[in-house]
Amino acid sequence: MLIKNHWYAIELGNKVGDEPVQVRVHGHDLVLWRSKDGTVNSQSDLCVHRGGSLGGGRVVDDCVQCPYHGWRYDSTGVCVEIPANKAELPIPKKARVDAYPCIERYGFIWVFLGDQPASDRPPLTELAGLDHSIEAKAEGYRAVSGEFTWQANYDRVLENAVDIAHTPFVHSGSFGNADQPEIQDFDLDEVREDGVLREVSATVLLDPPAPSGIWKILRKNAERPPVETTTGFYPPNVSMLIVRLPLGEIRIFTAAVPIDEHTTVSKFIMMRTFFTGGWADKDSIKRTMKIFLEDQPTVEGQRPELLPFDLSAELHVKSDAIQLAYRRWRQEQIDAGLGIETPTDEQERRRVAVIASPARSADPELANAWVFPAVDGPAHSQSDDASTMDGDLS
Ligand code: FES
Ligand SMILES: [Fe+2]
Repeated sequence: MLIKNHWYAIELGNKVGDEPVQVRVHGHDLVLWRSKDGTVNSQSDLCVHRGGSLGGGRVVDDCVQCPYHGWRYDSTGVCVEIPANKAELPIPKKARVDAYPCIERYGFIWVFLGDQPASDRPPLTELAGLDHSIEAKAEGYRAVSGEFTWQANYDRVLENAVDIAHTPFVHSGSFGNADQPEIQDFDLDEVREDGVLREVSATVLLDPPAPSGIWKILRKNAERPPVETTTGFYPPNVSMLIVRLPLGEIRIFTAAVPIDEHTTVSKFIMMRTFFTGGWADKDSIKRTMKIFLEDQPTVEGQRPELLPFDLSAELHVKSDAIQLAYRRWRQEQIDAGLGIETPTDEQERRRVAVIASPARSADPELANAWVFPAVDGPAHSQSDDASTMDGDLS
């Protein structure tokens, strides 16, 4: 289920270069592409002519060009060129795709999935202690990025990212200590702005694993201090992990991108204050991937695959406080009518429906200008079909 009217981090900024990039979110294909001035644009990926994928096309003259018959759409989603038509023919009003507000910040591409006008939109997520660009605040930090694919629902993936009590068990092969599974009581830090939940986090002390191998000999079983660890989430889809090691600090920000109900891609930016030379980048990525690999069998094995709606359907204990905060937030959004069902594979094969963009509600003149219906909007009608044809042939 997609919770609409939120800013989703859906891609890493360094993945969007000169070519358009297709990203699937909750079963809806979006295309991301850069204008000449470097701005990233986000639009529905489906060309309204014959459903060509714009992500497979090219960027030409500040437009994204469909690979099939070359229709060009500008950054607002309006088609500005139909090459097969004579130049003097007007471009039909319906030759447009939904365009979504899009901001590049902290190394991620954030897309507003919903139709709220700018004045009503929540502000963009603010990631802990970071300035607007990773580079600007990178003094003392070295950042790497990457992604990991799960055959699991995104609610499960996000909850795993903020789950404190699994560390001694699932990560006993890396940073967890299986002999010290007890989690001390912790306070939940909730940041709200105008009543809107912006961030939930908690800081705990976790026991590091006992030294082994060469470290055991070198340290002669010296006591290792507990590691102060902060974990939490920024609704709707970003989690954070800050680990304060004796050596320095690690921060991992992860966008759980919901591809569909069964697939999630975690796109992460990992920052470190130690070993800040490029020579250690590969190892940093490898260590982050190792964490995901340790989690993978457990998360992919959870049943039911989708997070239960009913809080009493699973048993919660004190250390689950962050996940419970996430479930409460999710339920509030659904109760407020913001949940949109993710289409099933069968529905997708039969019918295209897109996430409504702000232009649909902002401009009454465009009320009938959309070829594809909105997922939660009125069904496509016969009269709409007729006008589409008239428009195309004009
Ligand atoms: S399908 Fe896109 S131009 Fe024809
Ligand atoms: Fe984990």
